[in-house]
Amino acid sequence: MSKSNTTRRRFLTGAAATVGAAAATSFIPTRFAIAAKAPVRVGILLPYSGTYAMLGNSITDAMKLRIAQAGGVMGGRAVEYIAIDSEMSVPKAAQNANKLISKENVDFLVGPVHSGIAAVMAKIVGQRKTPIMIVPNAGSNDVTGGLCAPNIFRTSFSNWQAAYPGGTLMAKEGHKTCATISWKYGAGIQMMAAGRESFAKAGGKSVKDILLPFPNVEFQAHLSEIAELKPDAVFAFFSGGGATKFLKDYAAAGLKDKIPLYGPGFLTEGVEKAAGAAAEGIKTTLHYASNLDNPANKAFRAAYKTSTGNDANVFSVQGYDAGSLMLQAMAAVNGDTGATADIIASMEGSVFLDSPRGVWRMSKAHNPIQDIYVRQVAGGEQKLLGVAAPALEDPATGCKAG
Ligand code: BEZ
Repeated sequence: MSKSNTTRRRFLTGAAATVGAAAATSFIPTRFAIAAKAPVRVGILLPYSGTYAMLGNSITDAMKLRIAQAGGVMGGRAVEYIAIDSEMSVPKAAQNANKLISKENVDFLVGPVHSGIAAVMAKIVGQRKTPIMIVPNAGSNDVTGGLCAPNIFRTSFSNWQAAYPGGTLMAKEGHKTCATISWKYGAGIQMMAAGRESFAKAGGKSVKDILLPFPNVEFQAHLSEIAELKPDAVFAFFSGGGATKFLKDYAAAGLKDKIPLYGPGFLTEGVEKAAGAAAEGIKTTLHYASNLDNPANKAFRAAYKTSTGNDANVFSVQGYDAGSLMLQAMAAVNGDTGATADIIASMEGSVFLDSPRGVWRMSKAHNPIQDIYVRQVAGGEQKLLGVAAPALEDPATGCKAG
């Protein structure tokens, strides 16, 4: 259990889980007496503009909230944040990441939201020993697959993990055919493939797969095509501002009551109020639901609302858990950011007993093993309907470091 944990959150590290909590706190620092008083440097590369701005802000606010709840210190040291707006730009990703790593000398690198940027960052970070990268959203399968590395962790999900149970759900609800629609980049491509994979396994078939350039929101012609094709259901991934526009256009085209929409929960997450009636009733799968009945979720939602004025969403949960992950690792090494191997050991195999999403643990490939829920938008919130896939683990295809 973390010493610096002022909110008494329960969190086991791999070491604590196997040899007792004392092991995690018995580390004796030897190397960093001079630097000990300097703040821990947390670099952040997230979107604060464009269609994913809400996601970047939710992650940042919740991560800072978590660290503030622990007294604003990690392992006894103050925390300095150095944030860059990713602008969701893949061409700028290497330059932005290198700036945080080489110029700003960050100890931790938190980001990104976008799968394409994640792949660029993982290629850079994975070839170095430091910094420790924590992905608080981007689902790129490769980041904890072929690009996995000792110093790359994720507190969110893989694209496969979020979408695979959605295809099963669609089939379970009696649908035999679907059309898929998304943006043409890592997240959209991988999530649609996972949805089709499980749908096909259950006997379903996709009759049309539509991909738009990211972050294009000109949906009209595609919706007309879907209306003509008349599939039983539509499986979609969009998020943030683009998801709001898609949901509204889908309803305005008269499709909402005719062809049910499914997808990984990003389709409706955090946009319930902005989309209004266009989101109501839509069922999706994701690793969070607003009304999860656990004390940690209730306390988190109340604290987040008080500190930001906004309702918490899955992105804020992922940011909050990124804060917890850093806190427990820094407590384990008494603030010695130079103790990279010990920080990694502490993060590896860590078990989150008090996450707002419920219990989850880190896989060998450094991706959450977690429950995927079925949720439905009702009264502007994500209401839990059940568990679609308990303790789902990404296959981590191609990861040799785990
Ligand atoms: C992604 O690019 O990986 C992503 C973006 C928004 C929501 C979910 C995934």
